[in-house]
Amino acid sequence: MDQNLIDRLRAEMHYEYSRTGPPEGFPAFHDIAIERYTSDEFWELERTHLWPRAWVIAGRVEDASAPGDYFTFDDLGVPLIIVRGADNELRCFYNTCQHRGAPVVRDERGHARTLRCQYHSWSYDITDGSLTAVPDERDFVGLNRAERCLPQIRCDVWDGWVFVNQDTNATPLLEWMGPIPEQLAELQGPTLQTVARRTEVVPCNWKVTAEAFLEVYHFRHIHQKDGDSHLDNRGATMGLLPNGCSRMVTPFSGSSYKNLGMETWDDWKHWEVPGFIDIPTVNPMVRCTSSAYSIFPNLITPIAAYGFPFITFWPIDKTTTRIDWTHYAPLDFDPSNGLPPHWEARMENFDRIMGEDFENMAPMQRSLESPAMRGVPINYQERRIWHFHEEVDRMIGIDRIPEHLRVEQLMAPYVGD
Ligand code: FES
Ligand SMILES: [Fe+2]
Repeated sequence: MDQNLIDRLRAEMHYEYSRTGPPEGFPAFHDIAIERYTSDEFWELERTHLWPRAWVIAGRVEDASAPGDYFTFDDLGVPLIIVRGADNELRCFYNTCQHRGAPVVRDERGHARTLRCQYHSWSYDITDGSLTAVPDERDFVGLNRAERCLPQIRCDVWDGWVFVNQDTNATPLLEWMGPIPEQLAELQGPTLQTVARRTEVVPCNWKVTAEAFLEVYHFRHIHQKDGDSHLDNRGATMGLLPNGCSRMVTPFSGSSYKNLGMETWDDWKHWEVPGFIDIPTVNPMVRCTSSAYSIFPNLITPIAAYGFPFITFWPIDKTTTRIDWTHYAPLDFDPSNGLPPHWEARMENFDRIMGEDFENMAPMQRSLESPAMRGVPINYQERRIWHFHEEVDRMIGIDRIPEHLRVEQLMAPYVGD
């Protein structure tokens, strides 16, 4: 983040504290239709038009670091394989043999000179997916190898994180992310390692789970500890970024910033957390606030100078979502041998906060499905949720969505960097 952005965010937070209502002219939101969370119709629209066009994270570059290394990825509901080719590039193919449809590779991770299906040993090239060997080829009449290569999808890398997209015409990832790669370059993504991953399955629609991380309105109500909450939502500033992405910076509450020796909520310093390896380029504002980014549709990250989690939301069915949170950090230990106590303690603390969110979400789907639920009114400080829903509709294609299920496209004038 450059100093101009930090100065702008500081001014925005001062404004948020001082305002007595939404800014002059800010639009009134209509209720979000409940059926967006509950109907088969909307679920099918997302399944058919949103997920097959979305950039989603599949792993890290070091999950396949040498030519021939591969890992599988199933979270989009279609079996995929990410493989590093002989030219050292990562590519993503459908993990479906073009003979009789067996998975080409079966291990979650591995190394192969050629991608050989175990059923009848059809083999595919690690670099371009071309069909290179067919046992008893003479018995196939008119087999055209060129037509039987492994179909490839898009695979782009941002600072060490590997993303895939089934839409071969998709906007390149870094373009899709707008200003985010530049603003997050200070995290030194390429130097980080995966610390640990946690997973939880929650019985509600994936958007219910994502929305819980798009506002801090709920924070002091469900995340209190000893009668105090760590953040002050009244000063939170929301950045609506292109393509449904967004940013949120929230000041620490009085007790929290005083504990850090800060005089005021914006007395930002180069504060380092003892015991952890510091990412020295992370700016003081990020160190002394809660700063988070959302990459549409299903990745949210509360960033920090001593490592941070990526939280991802994977729909299993209309009312079931798997949430993963994976911590990345600069490390001086090998996490496969277990975590040292300071990391264990940190994970436990983060898991506790996630647990509070899950406990809150778990009964929500049934409650949303009640005839008592009229619609979801959204307030100004929840506007990232509205912005997110607008992008859901744009990805699906607004014309495909019945009028009563749409959200009005209202936020364009508020989208910036
Ligand atoms: S199904 Fe793969 S070789 Fe026959
Ligand atoms: Fe929360």
